[in-house]
Amino acid sequence: MDKKNRNALIAGNWKMNMLASQVPAYWQGLEPGAKLGEGVSSALCVPFPLIPAVKAALAGSQVKVGAQDVSSHDKGAYTGEVSAAMLADLGVDYCIIGHSERRAYHAESDELVNEKLKALLGAGITPIMCCGESLEQRDAGVTLSFVESQIKGGLAGISAEDMKKVVIAYEPIWAIGTGRTATAEQAQEVCGYIRGVLAGLYGQELAKGVQVLYGGSMNGKNAAELLAQPDIDGGLIGGASLKPEFADIIGAANEG
Ligand code: 13P
Repeated sequence: MDKKNRNALIAGNWKMNMLASQVPAYWQGLEPGAKLGEGVSSALCVPFPLIPAVKAALAGSQVKVGAQDVSSHDKGAYTGEVSAAMLADLGVDYCIIGHSERRAYHAESDELVNEKLKALLGAGITPIMCCGESLEQRDAGVTLSFVESQIKGGLAGISAEDMKKVVIAYEPIWAIGTGRTATAEQAQEVCGYIRGVLAGLYGQELAKGVQVLYGGSMNGKNAAELLAQPDIDGGLIGGASLKPEFADIIGAANEG
């Protein structure tokens, strides 16, 4: 199995942007271009309160709805938390975990990311597990070893069967929201390395089937080159997912 056998996934991460009342107009702008070609999937990962509005707007579209975080707990006295079962009940298909913004601002560890991943799998939601180095780590030459430790920590105890349901997103922190995209070579190097780490954990065949996304200032202009890389199976898109430009990235995946 090679890249031709892996579907592409173009996922938007709205972060803490947009209002439920703005969703219909947003979708009107995006919808004409958001047609998915064969082997291409797409999802919008939106803030919790916006999930019903986005779900309603996207009814009839192949674009799925995702969340941006989940509690590691099933239920109970965890004020402010949202469980995987609650997300599944709303019809959420994907959920980002371990985003660098949550690691930085909410001190999320690989152990916690691992617990969240298990919670999502238990609820039948596809986890999009993020990893990626800081600029200091890149300059210090520890990118690959750091990303490997995040992958191994986040996937601890995950069976091969479950691994088939996990998506990995490589997002170098220095490329997020900065307009400074990793070059296609830099992104491919790390995504290819991640696939090698997965091969070490689960074997070559399984690793060849895992979707590995790139994220960090991906836009309508640079998407085609990034998506053309052998180990980049899609994108996790922040800023550009808030605009009709997101459809251009879907278009690039359709042609890839
Ligand atoms: P930008 O596309 O805005 O750089 O954000 C990337 C990101 O963090 C997606 O999760």
